[in-house]
Amino acid sequence: MQNSTTILAVETSFDETAASILRGELNRNQPKFQILSSVVKSQIELHQKTKGVVPEVAARAQMQNILPVVSQALEQASLTLEQIDYLAVTSGPGLVVSLVVGTEFIKGLSLAKNIPILPTNHMAGHLYSAFAQNPKVEFPALSVIVSGNHTMLIIMEDYHTYRVIGQTLDDAAGEAFDKVARMLDLPYPGGPQISKLATNSKSQIDFPRPMINEDNYDFSFSGLKTAVLYYLDKYLDKQSQPLSEQVKADVAKAFEDAVVDVISTKALKACREYNCKTLTLSGGVAANQKLRSTLADLSQAQDIDFHLPALELCTDNAQMIAIAAYFNLLGGQESVSAKEVKADPAWELE
Ligand code: KG4
Ligand code: ZN
Repeated sequence: MQNSTTILAVETSFDETAASILRGELNRNQPKFQILSSVVKSQIELHQKTKGVVPEVAARAQMQNILPVVSQALEQASLTLEQIDYLAVTSGPGLVVSLVVGTEFIKGLSLAKNIPILPTNHMAGHLYSAFAQNPKVEFPALSVIVSGNHTMLIIMEDYHTYRVIGQTLDDAAGEAFDKVARMLDLPYPGGPQISKLATNSKSQIDFPRPMINEDNYDFSFSGLKTAVLYYLDKYLDKQSQPLSEQVKADVAKAFEDAVVDVISTKALKACREYNCKTLTLSGGVAANQKLRSTLADLSQAQDIDFHLPALELCTDNAQMIAIAAYFNLLGGQESVSAKEVKADPAWELE
């Protein structure tokens, strides 16, 4: 039996086109892998023009980008398709038209080269991306995933056994960042713009912290977004002139503080209740410096190991899909043939 495996992964679930190649050792209890290549073709400029993602526009760009991106990933790794053992593809959740680009492309490769497929959940990608630098983790671990479409707290008993203990009941954290950014007339994607602006403020505006003291691990960010809207409406009524850069910075900071406070308070509470030895943070909003440093400080104070991915691994990429597929393979996931692969836009992490 082979003692290592090579996986080519493709990610096209939302607004990027990405491919990555991983080589990993096939030892269930001692995961060890290296990333041989990772290519992300950003479509941000395209989506900035429409101030958000228009699905057909995203999918059309992904159709143009996927072949060059996969070819580049193979080239960077100095490999040919003949040397690939598995093809991993994000088959959900995400935009159906975008997912179909990746899944149909991978099905074609699988049929042409007779390579089995590992359909992979996008959120599992974010979950395992936290182990990219150091897969040696003490369990139980609490995983905080904050992305454009999800906010989740997950308890991991070991590398392969996990369950969701809380999630957002309405807007995801990233979605709230993007919507507040639009209210402040900032370009897409809003999260990085808000955090950049927030550094220019010492604002004392006190926005609500929804569900912070409730006895569960769920989140709700739509009330916070509405509080920002009311604040801005009131301000504009009084001022009758456009928002100044300082007011934008003050609102950005107060909003960021509220989101970070809710997420970190609930995460640390869960760590205590479940006796977690490790805390991980991942997803696009994990690129937020304030959230990174707050969770780093709080976990250090409680003697909890903190793992978080490098910045380029927080937002969507294929490296995280390759890593998730590798862990799933170690955990016993069976590969499938092309005819069994289907895009599933609502695939929930189990
Ligand atoms: O994980 P991701 O790339 O895509 C999804 O799977 O949804 O997350 C994208 C989200 C966007 O909402 C973006 O505004 C947010 O991550 N984001 C940030 C930062 N960088 C990206 N939010 C706050 N602060 C940041 N620095
Ligand atoms: Zn994502």
